[in-house]
Amino acid sequence: MNKVTVVGSGFVGATVAQYVADKELADVVVVDILEGIPQGKSLDMMQAAPINGHDCNLIGTNDYAETKNSDIVVITAGIARKPGMTRDDLLKINANIVKEVAEKTVKLSPDAIYIVVTNPLDVMTYLTWKTTKLPTSRVIGMAGVLDSARFQAFIGMELGFSVEDTKAMVLGGHGDLMVPIPRFSTVNGIPITELMPADRIEALAERTRNGGAEIVGLLKAGSAYYAPGASVAHMVEAILRDKNRLLPCAVYADGEYGLKDVYIGLPAVLGREGMKKIVELKLTAEESAALKKSADSIKENIDQMNKLLVAV
Ligand code: APR
Repeated sequence: MNKVTVVGSGFVGATVAQYVADKELADVVVVDILEGIPQGKSLDMMQAAPINGHDCNLIGTNDYAETKNSDIVVITAGIARKPGMTRDDLLKINANIVKEVAEKTVKLSPDAIYIVVTNPLDVMTYLTWKTTKLPTSRVIGMAGVLDSARFQAFIGMELGFSVEDTKAMVLGGHGDLMVPIPRFSTVNGIPITELMPADRIEALAERTRNGGAEIVGLLKAGSAYYAPGASVAHMVEAILRDKNRLLPCAVYADGEYGLKDVYIGLPAVLGREGMKKIVELKLTAEESAALKKSADSIKENIDQMNKLLVAV
């Protein structure tokens, strides 16, 4: 059985553990600094196993020793922005948490593939790569799958077609500047540009850009976790089953799309070695400019994080 470590037993971490086990992908170790929470949630999920029908072992712990030799490490540890907290406060706190988690886990699982979920996503993925010193193929951020799933859900709702037939491609950073690409978004092969007027497509793209904020607005305390959890499990499956799936993920750009030294959402192939390759597509001038703008904003945040952390 493969082994997946999930660091952070909060809403997202626990949902990742649940979906990974329900799909019978791997044994799962959930780690948190809180005592009792990872243990309690894992035991609860073990008790759901006879009903859901899987034989994955789930354990919760406060001890990193249990994570040894993981095939995949998922980082969801962090805090959400609270009232009165600046973006820099959040950046500094989450950067320190992610750095610590990356250091502790990579010592025990040097062959693991990392999937980073903690926000700000693209910056935290960059930090994980720098901290673990792993090849870029083994450090990937989860955001493109989620943002694309949101766009797909909205397309399905708008047209009244099954979401099983909707596919979408959302590139760029995981934030306001993400770049939904309608040309590459289809219903069973038919580009949505053939099915909807431009103003409706733009409305759905805008709702996608605000997808996370819309949920925060409704939940008040806390942010989304079902779709983020499902997105991580989808990536875990692509990797462990060596599926070679073409998925938008936060990956390290080293010249691709004219971008350099930045983690950003691009179409990538996921399989057992992690991120096998970035697929370069011809973008329009407008799409390229939007991607560049998004990358510039991520780079500014990486610089800011470096200042806040002194150096990474
Ligand atoms: N080591 C391990 N776990 C930690 C640490 C740490 N140093 N610091 C915090 N945690 C744990 C918290 O104890 C908590 O259980 O991380 C968990 C975070 O869970 P939630 O607060 O429920 O947050 P969640 O909704 O799961 O979101 C986690 O994913 O989507 C992103 O923006 C979101 O960055 C956030 C992350």
